[in-house]
Amino acid sequence: MDYKKDFEIFKNKNIVYLDSGATSQRPKYVVDKIKEYYNNKNANPHRGAYSLSLESTNAYEETRKKIAKFINAKHPEEIIFSKNASESLNLIAYSYGLENVKKDEEVVISIMEHHSNLVPWQFVTKKTSSNLKYMYINEDYELSKEEIESKITDKTKIVGITHVSNVLGTINNLKHIIKYAHKKGAVVVVDASQSIPHMKIDVQDLDADFLVFSAHKMFGPLGLGILYGKKQILNEMPPFIMGGDMIEYVYEDKTTFAPLPNKFEAGTQNVEGVVGLGAAIDYIENIGYENIEKQEREVTRYARQELSKLDFVDLYLTPNEENHCSVISFNVKGVHPHDVASILDTDGVCVRSGNHCAQPLLRYMGIDSTCRASFSIYNNKEDVDMLVKSLKKVYNMFSKYIKK
Ligand code: ALA
Repeated sequence: MDYKKDFEIFKNKNIVYLDSGATSQRPKYVVDKIKEYYNNKNANPHRGAYSLSLESTNAYEETRKKIAKFINAKHPEEIIFSKNASESLNLIAYSYGLENVKKDEEVVISIMEHHSNLVPWQFVTKKTSSNLKYMYINEDYELSKEEIESKITDKTKIVGITHVSNVLGTINNLKHIIKYAHKKGAVVVVDASQSIPHMKIDVQDLDADFLVFSAHKMFGPLGLGILYGKKQILNEMPPFIMGGDMIEYVYEDKTTFAPLPNKFEAGTQNVEGVVGLGAAIDYIENIGYENIEKQEREVTRYARQELSKLDFVDLYLTPNEENHCSVISFNVKGVHPHDVASILDTDGVCVRSGNHCAQPLLRYMGIDSTCRASFSIYNNKEDVDMLVKSLKKVYNMFSKYIKK
């Protein structure tokens, strides 16, 4: 199927967009729904008794229900809106981590975490005099069962784990990690930012305690993060950001807080973002995750195959295709990734280069940076062919420096 036609940007720009891991493009359907909201329903939700404000409230709250259904949360109030996945993770770190991790206890994360699911845990463990431990990848760029089970112990209070690595594309075995962490009495925080655009998430089936993602990586607008948390846990947590709409009663010297979800949603919210995410969910559901996975797996498999034919390119990915999703990091031997990305750009090929907000992972792998191609529903085999052609151009320009 040709999904490019759903995205106006591909009519306006002659590009091969291979950076959906950083942000996806938006289908016309989503952009139109946002426009429709502003042209017909715009008012501040939860604040007016007049019907326009009620319409806006309705658009906002109905989308919360839609998201709950989309990830199979038990209750809509388990869905909290934030600014981005980073803010959702900070909310958990401040409101759950600081309150529940005690001296000498442990927080366990993987070495493949994005800084957003790493730096907040450094903060929590420093503040609480507890220990931050890492689960390291093996030679297949995966977390082995032995590694997981040797690092999560009776002292572990929180496990932070990405579902899919934004550098390696490795899919972690969440079910095993969550089950094992629960056996040891720890709660699990899942970063689903890189998985939810590509695969079905069911929070009850996973039994995740917290799960975060952002709208902009799944065809929705920028500036909206989602936090899912089990109701009982969220109910016991103090608010993170204080202000309007998260209160029940305010006195001169004290305040009582609103029930979920408002307790965690201070200030005027990003209704445009929420409406846009609702439209993005419609878009995904209309295509169906089976079709998304089929298309993306085919393109990713083809990219793995074609890139591995280039003997001047190093690839960083698991040999187990079934554990790999939509992201390929690579380097042209002896050429800096920023140079590679700039040359690819002259052919309209957009890849990310750098450390991908995962410095500890790259340091562990003994490299500073990589180029990264990441795929979405609108990519096809011709896009991969363009990437390969452009990489050959890099090779020809730099061949005298390239050590194969
Ligand atoms: N977290 C995004 C990425 O990996 C920005 O590119």
